[in-house]
Amino acid sequence: MDRKDFLSSIGLSAAALLVGGCLGGCEKEDAPNPASVDFTIDLSQSEFASLRNIGGSVYKNNIIIAKNNNGTIVAFTQFCNHEGAVLNYVNSTNPFYFRCPRHGATFEQNGNGTYTSPGVSSLYQYTVTQDTNNSNLFRIH
Ligand code: FES
Repeated sequence: MDRKDFLSSIGLSAAALLVGGCLGGCEKEDAPNPASVDFTIDLSQSEFASLRNIGGSVYKNNIIIAKNNNGTIVAFTQFCNHEGAVLNYVNSTNPFYFRCPRHGATFEQNGNGTYTSPGVSSLYQYTVTQDTNNSNLFRIH
């Protein structure tokens, strides 16, 4: 293979990687349809153990669930409403907040966006209801 052929093959490979990589991951994801969201989490299960502590968070069904500064369980879409990146819950500051790793949008614990870029507004917030008979059970809907 001569240099031209080699560079040509590298170019095709890189282009194929870019196109292939975007087919599954570059589209904006939207908040799960509220009408289809209705599930229960159990803090006694290891999957949700981090929610026993203030500042903990988990992802479930495309929703980020966190225990905020007040000790309240809150649930929001896990997708930034700018371009759909998955948000992080930042618990190293006071108050905690949600942060988008892609362009830096930040959202207060009530979901209000503080990023000024067009297209970024409040996060969709789901209702969280604690079971009256079992304090480990929380319905997300
Ligand atoms: S995708 Fe979140 S700020 Fe751009």
